[in-house]
Amino acid sequence: MPDQQPVIAQKSPFVVEVEAGKTYWWCSCGQSDLQPFCDGSHEGSSFTPVEYKANESGSVYFCGCKHSANGALCDGSHEKL
Ligand code: FES
Repeated sequence: MPDQQPVIAQKSPFVVEVEAGKTYWWCSCGQSDLQPFCDGSHEGSSFTPVEYKANESGSVYFCGCKHSANGALCDGSHEKL
């Protein structure tokens, strides 16, 4: 099977207020309607969600373009798409 490319949900990060101690599942396929988090839409694809554990409460910049080399977190890759 050829490598599948993720869908670009948006070319900017999703800023989310996370809570310390909570676990979040970041959507890596880009198809979720609950961006930036997984809603199960990846079923049948080669993508799986990525776990993010919040160590502290605050704003987190989750990757929206699904091309970050930093996993669930924005690394600015959206500027090169
Ligand atoms: S919906 Fe995208 S990884 Fe689950």
